[in-house]
Amino acid sequence: MTDNILDIQDLRLSFRSHGGVTEVLHGVSLSVAPEERVALVGESGSGKSVTARAVLGLLQSQRSAQITGRILFEGRDLASLSGANRRKLRGTKMSMIFQDPVSSLNPLFRIEDQFREVLRRSERSADMRRTREVAGKLLRDVSIDDPERVLASFPFQLSGGMNQRVMIAMALVNEPSLLIADEPGTALDVTVQDQTLKLMRKLADDRRAAVFFISHNLGVVREFSNRLYVIYQGRIVESGPTGSIFDDPRHPYTKALLAAVPRITRAGIPEIEESPEAFSAPCEIHETAGVAA
Ligand SMILES: Nc1ncnc2c1ncn2[C@@H]1O[C@H](COP(=O)(O)OP(=O)(O)OP(=O)(O)O)[C@@H](O)[C@H]1O
Ligand SMILES: [Mg+2]
Repeated sequence: MTDNILDIQDLRLSFRSHGGVTEVLHGVSLSVAPEERVALVGESGSGKSVTARAVLGLLQSQRSAQITGRILFEGRDLASLSGANRRKLRGTKMSMIFQDPVSSLNPLFRIEDQFREVLRRSERSADMRRTREVAGKLLRDVSIDDPERVLASFPFQLSGGMNQRVMIAMALVNEPSLLIADEPGTALDVTVQDQTLKLMRKLADDRRAAVFFISHNLGVVREFSNRLYVIYQGRIVESGPTGSIFDDPRHPYTKALLAAVPRITRAGIPEIEESPEAFSAPCEIHETAGVAA
């Protein structure tokens, strides 16, 4: 038994194509405890999004995907759930915030209709009055002052930042215990991205929800996560508390990753280089895995 919200154990994922079978995850294990904010970082193509998609149960029905290992959500093995129950879980107990709100919201329906769809996953009989009540409150929580106008709008009538906030509000409708965010807001400008993350953090804190967060922006990761996994070519190569990994990266890939970003201090001043003290300062023990073969 485990108290974790999410436990991924030795996840292997392959895709079948005409050319044969390609394994893209080679035994990924990771966990998210209640109320934790956990980041998964790694370069493009390393397997971040497919990991999130597997957790959301979006790959299990894809015929070209072969999955082994276990994904436990609140102690329950996702593989033991029917397709219908996996769909039900998605958008209720776990919900997702995507990179690009435009492609995640349906352009053909008013925002209020989309809220109602989501609400009906947990309240089958929810009508428009109930929807407006629930959505109105959530929209105010994401700093939208005129929820009535927004609810009556189509996505194209709202700005990118507004749609992003609508999406965050929508992800919270059914009080998820885990929010999964794949590079939220990166399709939008940097200010919106920053606002999105601050908002997500506050809302997750208020609701005591855990966050599993994907990024290749290390500044964001440092600011936002308690714990961090570094993925490299489909393998977790290092994990531990975010602060200790930043202070003392052990794996050569992590070192290279950290060296590649200009460090910005909290005051917004770029750090030229680490002080020698930072290298010798004590840090919490964190786990490293062997160098990828
Ligand atoms: N449906 C699919 N069919 C075949 N291969 C896929 C599929 N989805 C992803 N892949 C492959 O799996 C690997 C991991 O992809 P993934 O999208 O998880 O990368 P990522 O870490 O999210 O990268 P990025 O930072 O660019 O978003 C890549 O080599 C990708 O080409
Ligand atoms: Mg991705």
